[in-house]
Amino acid sequence: MTELSFIHRFEPATDSSRPPLLLLHGTGGDENDLLGLGRTISPGSALLSPRGKILENGMPRFFRRLAEGVFDEADVKFRANELADFVTEARKAYGLEAPIAVGFSNGANIAAAMLMLRPDALSGAALLRAMVPLSETPPVDLAGKRVLMTSGAMDPIIPADNAKRLAASLSEAGAEVQHHMLPTGHNLSQTDLQLLVKWFSEQSR
Ligand code: MLT
Repeated sequence: MTELSFIHRFEPATDSSRPPLLLLHGTGGDENDLLGLGRTISPGSALLSPRGKILENGMPRFFRRLAEGVFDEADVKFRANELADFVTEARKAYGLEAPIAVGFSNGANIAAAMLMLRPDALSGAALLRAMVPLSETPPVDLAGKRVLMTSGAMDPIIPADNAKRLAASLSEAGAEVQHHMLPTGHNLSQTDLQLLVKWFSEQSR
């Protein structure tokens, strides 16, 4: 694997009509976690999968938190920029277009922060169990970016209202947001997969 600023896995595209994916794992995951999901939801896409640099009791994450659902916002900003810089590096190293982020939980939250702070790093995002990552963000133009959000109505970690607020702020910034509130908890369900497959089939050029 090419030496870049994040430990990562990379799988080249086998179908050039499919967009590259930036796979962002949840707390305690790593760069291997979402490769299978990526292959299933967008077969043939290039897959770029970094490992979060923060360790919380040995569990990799993409930014520090003070408690569950309470984020160290200065670190969120620093890490979102650091990850966006990695995407720039990897695009150069592997010859990629701007990827679509596919993030689960902590990975979805850093992807949402990247959209707000470094919108050029991503061409869109699938945010699975995301919440508002920053209490205040500068104005941003997300016109032309498609965002899929899937949330769990019974998610014990993410209040439904918080997920709705994130969806609203992304669409106010101009993104084309599809938000599905599913009758489930924090874990992904078959319905998430079906929605992802459908959304990605509409992304191919
Ligand atoms: C976070 O810390 O990003 C959220 O609480 C989700 C999680 O990773 O548990």
